[in-house]
Amino acid sequence: MSSNEKSGHPTTLRYDEKPVYTTSNGAPIGNPEGWQRTGPLGPLLLQDFHLIDALSHFDRERIPERVVHAKGAGAYGEFEVTHDISDLTSADMLNGVGKKTKAVVRFSTVGGEKGSADSARDPRGFAIKFYTQEGNWDWVYNNTPIFFLRDPTKFPLFIHTQKRNPQTNLKDATMFWDYLSTHQEAVHQVMHLFSDRGTPYSYRFMNGYSGHTHKWTKPDGSFVYTQVHLKTDQGNKTFTNAEAGKMASENPDFSTQDLFDAIQRGEFPSWTVYVQVLTPEQAEKFRWNIFDLTKVWPQKDVPLRPFGKLTLNQNVQNYFAEIEQVAFSPSHLVPGVEPTVDPVLQARLFSYPDTHRHRLGVNYQQIPVNAPIYAFNPFQRDGAMAIHGNYGANPSYPSTYRPNTYKPVSPANTQEHWAGSAVHALFQDVNDDDYVQAKGLWDVLGRTPGQQENFIGNVSGHLSGAQSDTRERTYGMFSRVDAGLGAAIKEQTEKLAK
Ligand code: NDP
Ligand code: HEM
Repeated sequence: MSSNEKSGHPTTLRYDEKPVYTTSNGAPIGNPEGWQRTGPLGPLLLQDFHLIDALSHFDRERIPERVVHAKGAGAYGEFEVTHDISDLTSADMLNGVGKKTKAVVRFSTVGGEKGSADSARDPRGFAIKFYTQEGNWDWVYNNTPIFFLRDPTKFPLFIHTQKRNPQTNLKDATMFWDYLSTHQEAVHQVMHLFSDRGTPYSYRFMNGYSGHTHKWTKPDGSFVYTQVHLKTDQGNKTFTNAEAGKMASENPDFSTQDLFDAIQRGEFPSWTVYVQVLTPEQAEKFRWNIFDLTKVWPQKDVPLRPFGKLTLNQNVQNYFAEIEQVAFSPSHLVPGVEPTVDPVLQARLFSYPDTHRHRLGVNYQQIPVNAPIYAFNPFQRDGAMAIHGNYGANPSYPSTYRPNTYKPVSPANTQEHWAGSAVHALFQDVNDDDYVQAKGLWDVLGRTPGQQENFIGNVSGHLSGAQSDTRERTYGMFSRVDAGLGAAIKEQTEKLAK
């Protein structure tokens, strides 16, 4: 038997072993199904710790599910640097061709509950925690290179419209399209969502994107702006709308099973990892605002530079411990990478650790799957579930009697300079530019026979469930992308609505 030394709980057992069953405080017990009473069928006894402990633990088995991305699957793997990019960043994990870093990955759908179908039309989460020598670095990405919004205040509002109606408790097509057609900066992401890439075949067959612009820095104070892409080595493979619907009833856990089974078979899925790079000077003159999360950097203007490979090669032993309890955050960063002023990214830096404290508790970083290789922060003390010795006798303030090493990490002058009046406003109003890249994707779909037709069918099937004024507004949105697209969606949707 191997055991988790810290907890004393056996975690893996050989099948020929017969461990002694005990109560939770370790006392052996003869019959796990027996219960204490007075006489042959007398009343239960309060002294029956085994029964009371079992019931009260069961009563508390559920933790809050993630408010978004509740349904997911994950595995362990490793990242390998394949090309030298030390000219871009000093991040320890990225320096040295051939260097390998252990990772845990969690894929997810976004809107559905923990038991919802894997094949739902939805963006997919693609979250990675790298256990680097200088701390955990999380990439909390999606399978789309952009998002529905660029104002963080809209996130809870938008999400509410994709969840259940407060009265009927049903998914609500009117709510869904009412929001999207009145916040048309979302149109580019809507184009991704309703293409067949909105229903990936499974997690192995989709890409991942940072979406946000980050800064990669070097100790000399220089920095570049970056966007990261993970491209599936399995090839992009999607369901049609009909296939996704069928799979939702036949095997709602299809993506979860596909990932687990492939790894068990030794078919390790991998992704080639690229970076797009803009210098601060190039960014100033760039056609697109690099802090606008609804826009990509066109690849003909900013080519993809390969630098690594991510491979998933090990299933977890315990889903709850290792996947349900994993806690990713865009603010889990390491020296050599910094966030930008993208307001959605800035808001996310706060939101994730906040939700982890609610979902998992204040000491969530001590849970084994979240714990970094090395951490020493004795100024954070106590709190619920401080299970790792709580830094023993180390002083809980910067003491002259037991000094720590403080290693400077921030380069001297990497930061941009910002000045101006305080305002309360949107990122910017919707304008013609918001339809340009959506049209770009419409043209990309036109490169593969059938993709545009599928798109029109995918939208119409969903939109036909919305009220007529919302449908009309939505036709207007698609007509601004492409007049023919708007007309085709209107024709098909109205037929279905009748
Ligand atoms: P490119 O022709 O250089 O790139 C097109 C991109 O679209 C490729 O990355 C390709 O990814 C991806 N793609 C192909 N088919 C689909 C699909 N059905 N759904 C979503 N993405 C698809 O053009 P641009 O860089 O100028 O971009 C044109 C449009 O492509 C953009 O408006 C954007 O919507 C979309 N796109 C752009 C990306 C970017 O970072 N520039 C990334 C992904 C999409 P793959 O190699 O995996 O097939
Ligand atoms: C999960 C908030 C935008 C990717 C979550 C969770 C919250 C959240 C609260 C649940 C986390 C948990 O319980 O562990 C927000 C807010 C956003 C935002 C406030 C905008 C203001 C985005 C964007 C992306 C993204 C733009 C991708 C680029 C993810 C992923 C997960 C997630 C992948 C699942 C992580 C996991 O597997 O545990 N988000 N999100 N989110 N979010 Fe966001």
